[in-house]
Amino acid sequence: MKVLILGAGGREHALAWKIAQSPILNELYIAPGNGGTASVGDNIPVSPDDFESIKKVVLGKRIDMVVVGPEAPLVAGIYDFFRSDEKLKDVYLIGPSRAGAMLEGSKHFAKEFMERYGIPTAFSFSVNAEHVEDGISFLRRMEPPYVLKADGLAAGKGVLIVDTLNQAEKELREMLGGKFGDASKTVVIEQYMRGIEASVFVLTDGESFLILPNAKDYKRVGERDTGLNTGGMGAISPVPFIDKAFLKKVEKRIVIPTITGLRKEHIPYTGFLYVGLMNREGEPYVVEFNVRMGDPEAQAVIPRIKSDLLELLAAAGEGRLKEHKIQVVPETASTVVLASGGYPGNYEKGKIIRGLENTTDCFLFHAGTRSDGKELVTSGGRVLAVTALAENMDSSLELCYRNIEKIHFEKKYFRKDIGFDLKRYHS
Ligand code: GLY
Repeated sequence: MKVLILGAGGREHALAWKIAQSPILNELYIAPGNGGTASVGDNIPVSPDDFESIKKVVLGKRIDMVVVGPEAPLVAGIYDFFRSDEKLKDVYLIGPSRAGAMLEGSKHFAKEFMERYGIPTAFSFSVNAEHVEDGISFLRRMEPPYVLKADGLAAGKGVLIVDTLNQAEKELREMLGGKFGDASKTVVIEQYMRGIEASVFVLTDGESFLILPNAKDYKRVGERDTGLNTGGMGAISPVPFIDKAFLKKVEKRIVIPTITGLRKEHIPYTGFLYVGLMNREGEPYVVEFNVRMGDPEAQAVIPRIKSDLLELLAAAGEGRLKEHKIQVVPETASTVVLASGGYPGNYEKGKIIRGLENTTDCFLFHAGTRSDGKELVTSGGRVLAVTALAENMDSSLELCYRNIEKIHFEKKYFRKDIGFDLKRYHS
């Protein structure tokens, strides 16, 4: 098969690394890719949002399958673009239709969808600028803290949790006034859920599904989950509290009703579904749906998949996923992200990365790297993810951190406490 992966992050490097091992792969391209994907396939300098240029690549290289990494092209309708084009309509497009991508592209849509199918989630109320006073009344009837979510895509920054009613009212007005541009024209006000978060990942062909390894990510930049939100600073897979009984509840109460609901509404959905969950005393509630793999969760999840991922993706594309099972390695994967100092605020690029050749017993997934002639240099906030597999979380973390000491670039930053909140489950 000839495969094109869209995206440029660590998630796409992990996908490319795994797909490159498949015996059914002939050629692998990544658009635009990064310094790491270049070692397992050919990078093509095309943006995932430029559908016409992607079409040229797909036709020119005779691509059989396109795997969409990030959410933006899905929300913009890349699936529908392929299906409505005579020359592209038979290419497997791994990612949902524009309507399916609304599960991530509109929090209001996702909430209404969950309500229609009785999927457990926090109680909420959606409001736009014309009805701001209804939103304020709703806030006044709630207990703090207050959760305000921009309806649309806001690069991971659109969720605010505020402690006081005054602050919540002010933020609501600012969000509706354009604080996150069009993304916050509608705001979902949500009941705050206490518990511990984790994510379950699903691969579906719209009829049947496979549950992939689960993971927990660490979004805040600072230790003990403090400071600004980032794209993710690390991940652990599997999550110790996601046992068989909990996973059964997720499957029965969330995954099956979601896939059945999509089918009932004639919404095509082939690809990954990321179920962001809150574990509330053993009961799963949906925090959010994403229509792609997580980043950096993919860098922990994918190394745990023993099966041929390309074969599973092809089966999903052909609508015969029910003929397949997934094999997973029992070890724990820990992923720690190395970032540029200053991230997620301002940071410098172009720092020379040294020492990668000295690492052992780990996987390195590149995100913000590029080759500058002979040297590999930093080109983004999240630079690299280091993943290690071992028999338990402590030993995999130890391997990760030991290898991180061997990698050098100016102002390297990483969290030293990935997995801190899971240690109590490992006693
Ligand atoms: N790590 C969070 C996300 O991928 O959305």
